[in-house]
Amino acid sequence: MTQDELKALVGQAALQYVIPGEVVGVGTGSTVNKFIDALASMKDQIPGAVSSSEASTARMRTLGIPVLDASEVTELSVYIDGADEIDARGFMVKGGGAALTREKIVAAMSRRFVCIADESKMVPVLGAFPLPVEVIPMAAARLMRQFQQLGGKAHVRLKDGQPLVTDNGQHILDVTGLQITDPLGFENQVNQWPGVVTVGVFAHQKADVCLLGTPGGVKTLSF
Ligand code: 5RP
Repeated sequence: MTQDELKALVGQAALQYVIPGEVVGVGTGSTVNKFIDALASMKDQIPGAVSSSEASTARMRTLGIPVLDASEVTELSVYIDGADEIDARGFMVKGGGAALTREKIVAAMSRRFVCIADESKMVPVLGAFPLPVEVIPMAAARLMRQFQQLGGKAHVRLKDGQPLVTDNGQHILDVTGLQITDPLGFENQVNQWPGVVTVGVFAHQKADVCLLGTPGGVKTLSF
């Protein structure tokens, strides 16, 4: 089975967590795109979705899924999103699609985080995937030095030769060389650094369930 087919499998499987009559939180990325495509079949059963990016919003609107502003909703029963890495406790690295800040906001609004991923995303220790960190541009150089002191190496993410600008008008650092053995402590620490908007470690907003796409089918992990 190809990676694309595994993503489609978990995207479809995530529909079972969508509660008819309730707004659903929707993440960002190629796996979530499969979920959005599947969600279109339920669009008449839900009031709409709260989106974590302009890209997901555009895809949902094209498919006729109503997108609500986060301020219109107090709490979501479920948030469906992908991950760049997930460990055996449900801690994740996210932000490969540069949407980590809004993803963390929508995850925090949700009672349950359902992660959908192909099995290549499961890791023993977080950090092999370059850690995305959304930053205020004027702080970028200082933050790169701070990551260096932790043993990491940070680069400003580029798009067409220029710093990528997020949906929030900020930049992304990608940090390699880290081994994140204490995700909660790491998230707490980096969150204190002036100029950090969001660190891509999702420990406080970890997954409750992971639907993992494997050649043998969907494996459900609960944390
Ligand atoms: C976007 C994310 C995505 O969930 C993550 O990058 C996984 O994406 P994909 O499903 O395309 O592998 O965090 O900011």
